[in-house]
Amino acid sequence: MSRSAHPAGPRHADVLPEGHHLQVPEDLNALDPKVWSATTERGDDGVLRVAGLDVRDLAQEFGTPAYILDEADLRARCRDWKEAFAGADVFYAGKAFLCRALVRWIAEEGLNLDVCSGGELAVALSAGMEPSRIAFHGNNKSVAEIERAIDAGVGRIIVDSYEEIARVAFAAEQRGVVQKVLVRVTVGVEAHTHEFIATAHEDQKFGLSVSDGKAAEAVRRILKLGSLELLGLHSHIGSQIFDTAGFEVSARRVVALLAAIRDEHGVELPEIDLGGGLGIAYTSADDPQTPADIARQLTEIVKRECHAADLTVPRLSVEPGRAIVGPSAFTLYEVGTTKELDGLRTYVSVDGGMSDNIRTALYDAEYTVSLVSRASGAEPVLSRVVGKHCESGDIVVRDAYLPADLAPGDLVAVPATGAYCRSMASNYNHVTRPPVVAVRDGKARVVVRRETEEDLLRLDVG
Ligand code: LLP
Repeated sequence: MSRSAHPAGPRHADVLPEGHHLQVPEDLNALDPKVWSATTERGDDGVLRVAGLDVRDLAQEFGTPAYILDEADLRARCRDWKEAFAGADVFYAGKAFLCRALVRWIAEEGLNLDVCSGGELAVALSAGMEPSRIAFHGNNKSVAEIERAIDAGVGRIIVDSYEEIARVAFAAEQRGVVQKVLVRVTVGVEAHTHEFIATAHEDQKFGLSVSDGKAAEAVRRILKLGSLELLGLHSHIGSQIFDTAGFEVSARRVVALLAAIRDEHGVELPEIDLGGGLGIAYTSADDPQTPADIARQLTEIVKRECHAADLTVPRLSVEPGRAIVGPSAFTLYEVGTTKELDGLRTYVSVDGGMSDNIRTALYDAEYTVSLVSRASGAEPVLSRVVGKHCESGDIVVRDAYLPADLAPGDLVAVPATGAYCRSMASNYNHVTRPPVVAVRDGKARVVVRRETEEDLLRLDVG
């Protein structure tokens, strides 16, 4: 553990579990650019600014908690992916965060969109997303969802089961159209990530297995159906992945199946989709790869494997969600109470919690946090940022150092909350969900408004 710059040393550093890699920060005011969005900066007064806007003004105007989304940062990430995967297709995975403004931004930046429910499809269509640029996922799409997707002219449906092949084929046939599909295959890769977000090992709900022959059988069935056009194969191995070895194995197994399909049916499928999953930095300890790195590696593996199998190299697509929107937002909270436990840690209660960020409770996710409304020279204290919900698992940031003089009324910000925070937000305890405020070039606008008590009561019709 590194030593603190403060003569008194950090307080309570000794209570962290063995092997915990939380570093005592040299400078509590430093903003690690890996974790904070591109236009964030701290002024001489210690106040955080984003897109040139003072967070105290944002809190005043929009209230707290609020997700503050840095539009320029997000658009730059879209461009990085688009550029890195030139000659391939990038589908932004809307499950990470979706609203109409964001649909327009990604479309303007040349990205396509992956949706996985009728609700996500509705948002995409209502924002004017070109249906042919939408891919529709899900392991149990309803017949109504399938029909709606086909009626809308969705570019591709990723089929996940035999039942679904029959359902999509029937709906397409009834409408006299030919629907483009990909088969979601599971390649048997153990992705090194949390069990709940790993998806390519055999013992889970998604996809058709390559190893037991079910994926090959799905292809056989689809090729016999006149209302389906098989574009190719899809594999998503999991999320928050740093090690590219899993993608390599996945690409190799998918290409091997393409070769087997060519041998059996005499057709070379034109596309493969290797899913999303690239990890981001939630804390300074994380070291993610760039889109350019991952693009180079994936395209090389696919080319190499295709040449070895004497296959024409198929068109590649990828589906990043977290890596596009995750680092572009932070959550702004106001501190309500602090509780110092001698020799242990300080609990800092903020005005949100597990309803706006379930990831800490659900996946043991690590985050960092900073005091952002003023400067402080106080010593760092091991702290736990908790919410206002009625359970002790309501933790936003499990372990982080905050200045000892942190007090009610201070604003704190948790970076890298753009992905899977608003989209997984709940109304637990009837707490209303925070707004998403987009900031760009000195201007702020609400793109998803704060939920109100009227919103909650409107659903309660008893
Ligand atoms: N494509 C497919 C088929 C997926 O299932 C997913 C994520 C993605 C793309 C995008 O993955 P990304 O690039 O965002 O890692 N709620 C969890 C993540 C669940 C991801 C589910 N599928 C979390 O908060 O970490």
